[in-house]
Amino acid sequence: MKKILPLLLAVLLSGALSAQTKQSKKTSKNSPNAAWVKNIPAEDVIKWRQHIHQNPELSFQEEQTSKYVEEVLKSLPNIEVIRPAKTSVIGVLKGGKAGKTVAFRADMDALPMQEETGLPISSKVNNVMHSCGHDAHTAMLLGTAATLSKMKDQINGTVYFIFQHAEETPPGGAIDIIKSGALKDVDAFFGMHVLPNFPAGHVGILPEGAASTAQDMFNLVIIGKGSHGSMPHLGIDPIVVGAAIVSALQSIVSRNVEPGEMTVVTIGRFQSGDAFNVIADRAELAASIRTTSEETRKLVEARTKEIIDNITKAYGATYKLDYIPTYPAIQNDAALNAQAQKSAAAILGKEQVFDAPMMTASEDFAYYKEIAPVSFVTLGIGEGAANHNPKFTVDESALQNGVKTQVQIILDYLNKR
Ligand code: NI
Repeated sequence: MKKILPLLLAVLLSGALSAQTKQSKKTSKNSPNAAWVKNIPAEDVIKWRQHIHQNPELSFQEEQTSKYVEEVLKSLPNIEVIRPAKTSVIGVLKGGKAGKTVAFRADMDALPMQEETGLPISSKVNNVMHSCGHDAHTAMLLGTAATLSKMKDQINGTVYFIFQHAEETPPGGAIDIIKSGALKDVDAFFGMHVLPNFPAGHVGILPEGAASTAQDMFNLVIIGKGSHGSMPHLGIDPIVVGAAIVSALQSIVSRNVEPGEMTVVTIGRFQSGDAFNVIADRAELAASIRTTSEETRKLVEARTKEIIDNITKAYGATYKLDYIPTYPAIQNDAALNAQAQKSAAAILGKEQVFDAPMMTASEDFAYYKEIAPVSFVTLGIGEGAANHNPKFTVDESALQNGVKTQVQIILDYLNKR
C-alpha cells in the first residue's frame, strides 16, 4: 500500500497537470485577451462581497450599499457614475473605439429573514440577510468593472454596469431604471444569478426563450352570509363557495393550457371561520400563478376571473378580486444566449459550462427586454441550501469564474462583430 500510494498520487497529479495545460492552451487559443485575467481583483471581490453580506439592506432601502458601490466605481479609472434611481448605480465605461453598447446587470437588495449560517461573516443586521446571493452579484460586477476599466483601449463601444435596487419586491427596481431613460442606448443586456447545488464556478446557460417564469398573484374575498351551523339554509357558506373555486381553478392547467407548457396555479392561502358550529360570512384566498408565455399568462388570468365570477354567482355569493401582475418571464435571446455559451466556454473551458434548467422563480431582469434583447445566465455555487433559505451560503471560490465569464461576454459582444 505504502509504495502504491505515491505512485497513484504521481499518476493523479500528472493527469491533473496535463488537464490544466490542455485547458490553458484552449483558453489562450480561444481568448486572445485572456491576459486580462491577472487584472481581476480577486481578493477585493471577496472583500466587497463580505462587506455587502454583513451589511444587507432591504428592497428600495439600499442607501449604504449604493453609496459603497458608487465609491468603488469612482475609485476606478475611466468610469463615469450615474444614479438613475435613488438607490441604483450605473457605471459607464466608454471604450477607445466607437461601437455597440452592452449592459451587465447585478442586483443589490437583501431579504427580510434572520441568517442561520453561523458563519463569522454573517449579517450584522437583525432579520435582514443576503440569502439570494445579490451580495455576490454586486461584488462580481464590481470586479468586472475594475478589470475592464484598465482595458479602455481594447474595448470597441460602451459598457454599462447596472447595480440595480429592489429585485426582490414588486414592482421591482428595473422599471425605475428603465423609466429614467439612462439605458435607452443599450443594444443588449446580460445578467448572472448564483445557483446552489451546481458545481462552484461552473456557468449554466439557461434555455433560449423562457428562462424564468412570469409571476402573478391574486387576493380574493368571498362575501357570503353568516348563519348558525345548524341552519345552513339561512346563510351562504363562503367555505363551500371557496372550495368549489379552488377545485375549478385546478382545471385551468389540466384543461385549458396547452399540454407541455409550464404553468402553475397555487392557492397558498384559504382562511375562513372561527368556530365549528358557525357558518362564516366571508372567506379569503390568495394565489400565486406562474407562466412562461404572455399568451398563457392572459389565458390563465381570463379563466381565473371567469371561474371566480360564475361560481360565486351560482352560489349566490359576491366577491372582491385583486389580480396583481408582477414580473414577466425572462425571454432569453437565442443569439445572445449562444454567444454567452461560447464566451463562457472560451474562458473557462467547455467542461465548466452546462445547460441549466429553466428557473421556476421570477426575476425583474425580464423587463430590460423592453429596450433590447437579453440573456440571463447562472453561476454554480456548490452544494448547499436553496436561495431564500436562512442557511443559504455562497462558495466564494466561484466568484472568480463569474467575473471571468462576465468580462469575456462583454468583450466578445463588443469586439466580435
Ligand atoms: Ni435573486
